[in-house]
Amino acid sequence: MSETPDPTPGPFPPSEAFTAQAVGQASLCEDAGADRLAFWAKQARERLTWSKDFDEVLDWSDAPVAKWFVGGELNVAYNCADRHVEAGNGERVAIHFVGEPGDEQAITYADLTERVQRAAGALRAAGVEAGDRVAIYLPMIPEAVISMLACARIGAVHSVVFGGFSADALRTRIADGEAKVVITADGGYRRGKPSALKPDVDEAVSGETSVQRVLVVKRTGEDVTMGDKDMWWDEALEAAEPVVEVESFDAEHPLFILYTSGTTGKPKGIFHTSGGYLTQAAYTNAVVHDVHPDTDVYWCTADVGWITGHSYITYGPLANGATQVMYEGTPDTPHQGRWWEIIADKKVSIFYTAPTAIRTCMKWGEEIPQEYDLSSIRVLGSVGEPINPEAWMWFRDVIGAGEAPIVDTWWQTETGAIMMSPLPGVTALVPGSAQAPVPGITADVVDEEGRSVPNGESGYLVIRDPWPSMLRGIWGDRQRYEDTYWSRFPDMYFAGDGAKRDEDGNIWVLGRVDDVMNVSGHRLSTSEIESALVSHDTVAEAAVVGAADETTGQAVCAFVILREESRENYAEDAAREELVQELRTHVGRQIGPIAKPRQVLVVDELPKTRSGKIMRRLLKDVAEGREAGDATTLADPSVMAQIQAGLKK
Ligand code: WT7
Repeated sequence: MSETPDPTPGPFPPSEAFTAQAVGQASLCEDAGADRLAFWAKQARERLTWSKDFDEVLDWSDAPVAKWFVGGELNVAYNCADRHVEAGNGERVAIHFVGEPGDEQAITYADLTERVQRAAGALRAAGVEAGDRVAIYLPMIPEAVISMLACARIGAVHSVVFGGFSADALRTRIADGEAKVVITADGGYRRGKPSALKPDVDEAVSGETSVQRVLVVKRTGEDVTMGDKDMWWDEALEAAEPVVEVESFDAEHPLFILYTSGTTGKPKGIFHTSGGYLTQAAYTNAVVHDVHPDTDVYWCTADVGWITGHSYITYGPLANGATQVMYEGTPDTPHQGRWWEIIADKKVSIFYTAPTAIRTCMKWGEEIPQEYDLSSIRVLGSVGEPINPEAWMWFRDVIGAGEAPIVDTWWQTETGAIMMSPLPGVTALVPGSAQAPVPGITADVVDEEGRSVPNGESGYLVIRDPWPSMLRGIWGDRQRYEDTYWSRFPDMYFAGDGAKRDEDGNIWVLGRVDDVMNVSGHRLSTSEIESALVSHDTVAEAAVVGAADETTGQAVCAFVILREESRENYAEDAAREELVQELRTHVGRQIGPIAKPRQVLVVDELPKTRSGKIMRRLLKDVAEGREAGDATTLADPSVMAQIQAGLKK
């Protein structure tokens, strides 16, 4: 970056009192440094219950596909539910559910264990066997977590599809994973009203499909059409066997597939397995979020449709036996103090959210959180994108009473669990930086040739050694897995992020270096949106860029060229504006509302190099309101002037 940034506040060392009680102590770094594999073996044995101990920590002979805790056996759902009941904590609340309209449920570990078994029984009755795939398309209600654990209990592989994705997106994900069953709901509550889900499922499973059964949770009570394959969740559970014994599965037994955007149009089915994933999810949740299961109330505001919800709502906290809040709705329904009201009411002590949400709350004004008693808060966390130091300071001052440590956690769908973060009882915090890999992880910043950069320089973020919760591949596509992550540098995992090492050695994540955008912490692919745009009758070509946006981090900006025969129809401003709105809606329908471009600009030409590659850098300049940069390598250098002139009209 050319301008000199403001001097960063901090560093903020932990208080003695915090360190004294912290789960993660400095000794972790020493242990991991002394013998990394022994360190992970210890985490796996101490944090999880294995029905059969493992005999080898890591088998890397089929690199880059790792096997962790070889020979070990466990049941993931047992680890997240039953064993806490057996340990005498059955009456502890696992989930304080808060629905958007205000309905609440307190689900204890005993309740959870019972409901998971019933749901597992219902899946078995629907013909689901170990290894079969189950798609989950639900709002943020307890059944989402229960369904995931029910799959895990019988060794089925879940594929959670974010409820905000469209019918089309659901259909492709169902098809790619060949899901046998879909679990959905009539709808959920969003911004004060019911928002239907079932019609999208009907559309997604119409015609030829792998789906044999659809289980429907009744949430809103709105009318839905129940077809041959459909069955109400409650009735299926009632009819099911109440007891589904705990079965042991191999440490490498598949646990889930979760789709994420890559650099090409087709979403990648990121594939995770059992023992290693659960070990790292539980370990990081304990040492990074500093979870004390008997006293803390933890809340992660993510949706279970994303990896954050998988690892830090379902698996990590429940494996640790923690008490957590789960909230269905938006932060401003029915008023902008809703989150803070829930924190005060449930005495939330650990609060994990995203920078985009923090910036939105900043805009609403600090008077709003100041109306609530937030004194229970003792740890804050951030995830999804870089957090700017201003938002960091606001979070600490306004929500954390000027003293709660903030853990800025860097990781990805692919990494399965947190990879870089300060430890709240150990690290002197530097606002805006994820700082260092957690003990047991070897992250680095390297140059084009894969050499570590010295302090003060930037490069690419890589992981040098395999880690327990790493993806085991892209579902059904080993080649794409190797090409995407392991071909840029030999023997190193390429994360796709740029990063800087500052003078003190702290790592700052700078953002994606590939054609992936980050909008409100959600990953979107430029080419996926481009394909959606060109699938519209009027569009000949499209180029999409992520432009800097104050609130959402990046915003989707699309440049489109109309087909010859359409140009005349949309020459007038009014017609063109209507088309722009239609194109935005079209993208929303194809992918989901989060992918809707903020702006669609109709242009006559796109800037291309002589080899035909679109120069997105120049379009980004335009989208961010700058004079376009060096255009000398364009096949037609006058294109940028034409675009800018056209937009000024
Ligand atoms: C991408 C992964 C990890 C769960 C949420 C997103 C960006 C994530 C940070 C952070 C800077 C971050 C990266 C990464 N990212 N956390 N703390 N600081 N950037 O998961 O959808 O797989 O996206 O999110 O660019 O590659 P995801």
